[in-house]
Amino acid sequence: MSGHDHQSRIGELLGRMTVEEKLGQLQQLAWAWDTGPGGGDTAAAEAAARKGLLGSVLNVVGAGASNALQCIAVEESRLGIPLVFGLDVIHGYHTTFPIPLAQAAAFDPAVTETDAEVSAREARSNGIHWTFSPMMDVTREPRWGRIAESTGEDPYLTTAYAVAKVRGYQGDDLTAPDRIAACAKHFVAYGGAEGGRDYNSVDVSEQRLRNLYLPPFRAAVDAGAATVMAAFNTISGVPAHANPHTLTGILKEAWGFDGVVVSDWTGVLELIAHGGASDEAEAARRSLTAGVDMEMVSTTFVDHGRDLLASRALDPERLDDAVARVLRLKLRLGLFERPYVTETAALTAPSAESRAAAREVAGRCLVLLKNDDDVLPLAGPAPRALAVVGPFADSGDLLGTWTLPGAPEAVPVLAGLRAALPDTEIRHAAGVSSQGLDTAGIAEAVAVAEAADAVVLVVGEPPAISGEAAVRSELGLPGAQEELIAAVAGTGKPCAVVLVGGRPLTIGGWADQVAAIVMAWHPGIEAGSAVADVLTGAVVPGGKLPVTFPRAVGQVPLYYNHERTGRPYDPAAPEVKYVSKYLDIADGPEFAFGHGLSYTTFSLGEPQLSRERITVAELLEDVTVEVTVPVRNTGAREGEEVVQLYVQDPAATLTQPVRRLCGFRRVRLAAGEERQVRFTVGADDFGYWSNDPAGVFIVEPGEIHIHTGGSSRTQARRTLLIT
Ligand code: BGC
Repeated sequence: MSGHDHQSRIGELLGRMTVEEKLGQLQQLAWAWDTGPGGGDTAAAEAAARKGLLGSVLNVVGAGASNALQCIAVEESRLGIPLVFGLDVIHGYHTTFPIPLAQAAAFDPAVTETDAEVSAREARSNGIHWTFSPMMDVTREPRWGRIAESTGEDPYLTTAYAVAKVRGYQGDDLTAPDRIAACAKHFVAYGGAEGGRDYNSVDVSEQRLRNLYLPPFRAAVDAGAATVMAAFNTISGVPAHANPHTLTGILKEAWGFDGVVVSDWTGVLELIAHGGASDEAEAARRSLTAGVDMEMVSTTFVDHGRDLLASRALDPERLDDAVARVLRLKLRLGLFERPYVTETAALTAPSAESRAAAREVAGRCLVLLKNDDDVLPLAGPAPRALAVVGPFADSGDLLGTWTLPGAPEAVPVLAGLRAALPDTEIRHAAGVSSQGLDTAGIAEAVAVAEAADAVVLVVGEPPAISGEAAVRSELGLPGAQEELIAAVAGTGKPCAVVLVGGRPLTIGGWADQVAAIVMAWHPGIEAGSAVADVLTGAVVPGGKLPVTFPRAVGQVPLYYNHERTGRPYDPAAPEVKYVSKYLDIADGPEFAFGHGLSYTTFSLGEPQLSRERITVAELLEDVTVEVTVPVRNTGAREGEEVVQLYVQDPAATLTQPVRRLCGFRRVRLAAGEERQVRFTVGADDFGYWSNDPAGVFIVEPGEIHIHTGGSSRTQARRTLLIT
């Protein structure tokens, strides 16, 4: 059905609907699976569906359950409008892929497209039409637990991942039995929560909103994202759920978004708690008027919509527009033609193929942070006896935040290593628990280490302390894990740490005690197999950090793309004292954005530009500049390097970041192989959004420095002159 046919069908339905039925389409209720605040009530959902007073349900699990509920809406309600079923399919349905932050570390958006395709197939076969993903909140806050769901601190990387994930979920036909509607969330600036405290305020300038937080959303909308979710935070004092500037002015009017804006869970009702509404009716009015189309879980629209219309506090055209958007989503998904799923075709478990995909993706997400004396890989030759210790060594709790009930546990690292090294004698001791303070087991771990040729220590933070509302004030290893590391490293055996977690961790207290560190994040269902692939060298690590690792929590926020400061004025001057740094800690991060090693080495040459001058007028006509970077594998084995391109505008009307990522390419090179990597850069990369609330993008004359290399710390550079 074409867009034109959708329009006439929507018009025809709107003409037949009562006010109650219209408001009902704007209501999303939760199924019984949810028992949290305002949680699910299956009977209430069924009753509302029967009366035609319900548009959507979230958290229905299983094909049979979704068909049964759908049958009530389609067969028993007056107009038979089907329900749309939503669910947080964040990094997998049955087949859990690595957490999104890990996926970002691959610097390869194809990995997230794979996750989305597998997830969409599994979810849709079970009657889910709509996922509340991708999350695209750029964040500089490692304390914030939701950094695990994000793709890190960089808007360009986040944009690339957002687009790939939307494409993976939606394909080009939402009616297909293996596709689902995406939801760009959380709109907007949620990642800026003060102090990393979840749901907290965000005071953001217009330029930062547009340069840092909005670009992934814009790209996701341009890529066809069917829905957008409002954020829990305020934006410069205005709650995101009641923000006409962002929801209507930018999203719907300037960007032409014609899909559904869904509230977050009870986000409309929470306007009262925010201090933005005195009662439910006012919350409903502000939110609907600002541009929210569907209310998740709370019921202020259906409860107060009629009165708001009667008192002219709500424009009937706004109501019809919101309803039209919900109906359009259902038409795009083909729900009027095919409201049910074939229960016998429902996918009920991960397949061998989906597991293989998750394993390959996880291998690409691991980041080799350090590798002194090439202690890794382990298999050259394999150690005779290996100790595998730590609280996560024999743990299946490596899926990460947001997994579905019943999702199979992860393959433990111990099992992965045993399968990969059949001729090695592998002994295990946990030593300590993940968060407990009991150190009694450390002696056993030390004994196991002493009897081995090498040690793999699997430490970190459990999934339960990252994700929504899981905020930390410290970023070190919880419990007694640092004591375990010190004791095991004290044996003098070569130690490789596999670090698991949902955020950057501060590791300075122990990093020097061990030879190698692999950041494994929460790697998903195939965790142990993928970690073993990398530890043994079957897979050569090639991931890079999508977030800065600070030395201490007191440095936070610490991010690579910070603005320039006025001091030191002259870095060469001897009296440099007034510098923006801490007195009591070395300057800069523990590991910079874009950092990551390999089992081979690469040399990246100076970038070459296709031209050294360009005019503003040419740039505004989309003339671009080609940047070529030679990259050579200088080591003895095949590997992958992420070639990164950063732009800096050293003299602009609005102070610009010291660097901004504007290109990356992960390339595989055989030993000794050299390749030219090409990037195309233009106005989008050299310009920036001003503070004008009307949205003004500026390209100014002057120098642009173009840096290329294997991390954000690269010095290689060429200058382009814009005249
Ligand atoms: C989260 C959303 C999520 C929703 C539904 C909220 O608490 O902020 O990201 O989609 O719950 O589960």
